[in-house]
Amino acid sequence: MKISRGKINTKPSKKTDNQFHSRFQKVKILRPRFLEIGKKIGTPLYLYDKEEVQKNVQTFKNAFKKEGLNINIFFATKSNYYPGILRTVVQEKEGLDVSSERELKLAIEAKAEKIVYTGPGKTEKDFELILKYHKKITVNLESIRELKLLAEMAENKKATMRCGVRIYTKMQTGWTKFGIPLENLKTFFHEARKHKSINFCGIHFHISYNKNPEKYVKTFKILSEYLKENFTENERKQFQYIDMGGGFYPQPFEGTHPWNREEDSMEVPDEKTLISTKPGKRYIPIKVDPIEKFAKEISKIYKKEILPILPNISLYAEPGRYICHSAMHMIFKIIDIKNPHLGITDGSNNMIGWERYQFFHYVPLFNLSQFDQKNEIPFITYGSLCTPDDVWGYYIYTKKTPKEGDILVMPFQGAYTYTFAQNFIKEIPPVYDL
Ligand SMILES: Cc1ncc(COP(=O)(O)O)c(C=O)c1O
Repeated sequence: MKISRGKINTKPSKKTDNQFHSRFQKVKILRPRFLEIGKKIGTPLYLYDKEEVQKNVQTFKNAFKKEGLNINIFFATKSNYYPGILRTVVQEKEGLDVSSERELKLAIEAKAEKIVYTGPGKTEKDFELILKYHKKITVNLESIRELKLLAEMAENKKATMRCGVRIYTKMQTGWTKFGIPLENLKTFFHEARKHKSINFCGIHFHISYNKNPEKYVKTFKILSEYLKENFTENERKQFQYIDMGGGFYPQPFEGTHPWNREEDSMEVPDEKTLISTKPGKRYIPIKVDPIEKFAKEISKIYKKEILPILPNISLYAEPGRYICHSAMHMIFKIIDIKNPHLGITDGSNNMIGWERYQFFHYVPLFNLSQFDQKNEIPFITYGSLCTPDDVWGYYIYTKKTPKEGDILVMPFQGAYTYTFAQNFIKEIPPVYDL
């Protein structure tokens, strides 16, 4: 079915802290299309917004370009595996980061030519598939066991496998199930060099939820000191890439609930408290540095501490959330009004697979049928799963009290939602490409 295209201004907002404003604008522009799709195709639906992926890839890339660095993006498939997103990233000439057979198959279907394979506990079966596509893949190894197993399997196939190793430092506290401690890099390097089937040339690290560049900068500093002390100039020439993983928190279209600032509780205040909370007090904004600041600080340390000692190096990153966070919207319809402050929708939290809005994040919810971006009223929007843990939000932008049949949108919800969706009670709804 053909749905008319509205004119969309996807230019990033000049004021980086004004994300809410520019996104409200986009919702306003897209509203007729959202409504038309909801009525013609039906609800609930995910809407895939390709232009957001294109914009996010370009903004990420340009932030580093402005600092004189070419960054190689490998989009983290785990953050949203929707094939449309993977295809868009590939069309933008970037790569994919995969962590399982399932994700590798998706990457191959999306015609990815550049793939990094990360993740712990790789098995013989994983390596069989990796070796089948070895020309497109760089493997970030996690242990000596993985190294020896892959080396042997690659040798049997007479293939050479491009590999690096994942390391952790004190900046990756809590992530020690991954990779090897930095102190063991030298031993790992010499072990890898024994195997002709392994082209060992990379270093990988990752840490999630970075709201500023500090952890990348400090990891580069620690790494540089270690490499200077433990590797000869000739050995350092062997390194071809540093993969700094993902974790770049985008400027969010979400806030934390004021009663759960630390995002560590699963308790909700009573309905009376929720309903009486005044506008302006309903969420706490999440403070995040713009990507330009990340790029500036990372580039500075990289040029100062890494490039001079690793002359053949390229910089890789595996952003997930940053690329896909704004690339999906969810539309659903009010089925039942239980009282003026409580309604139930056809779309439910199995669409996102966790109690994100109920306990942790406020995200603006819009009534498309009674559209008013100035009037946010207290209204608890529940999904229709047979459990109380199924909440979209406690407030809604609407002209008047929502009615049965009204279509709602929860916009810009692409990261770790669709990918966590589950057939819990209800089917996972389809995706419609905008
Ligand atoms: C190895 C690796 N790379 C990239 C990512 C993507 O992280 P994010 O979506 O926060 O950018 C993850 C997520 O956990 C990861 O484990």
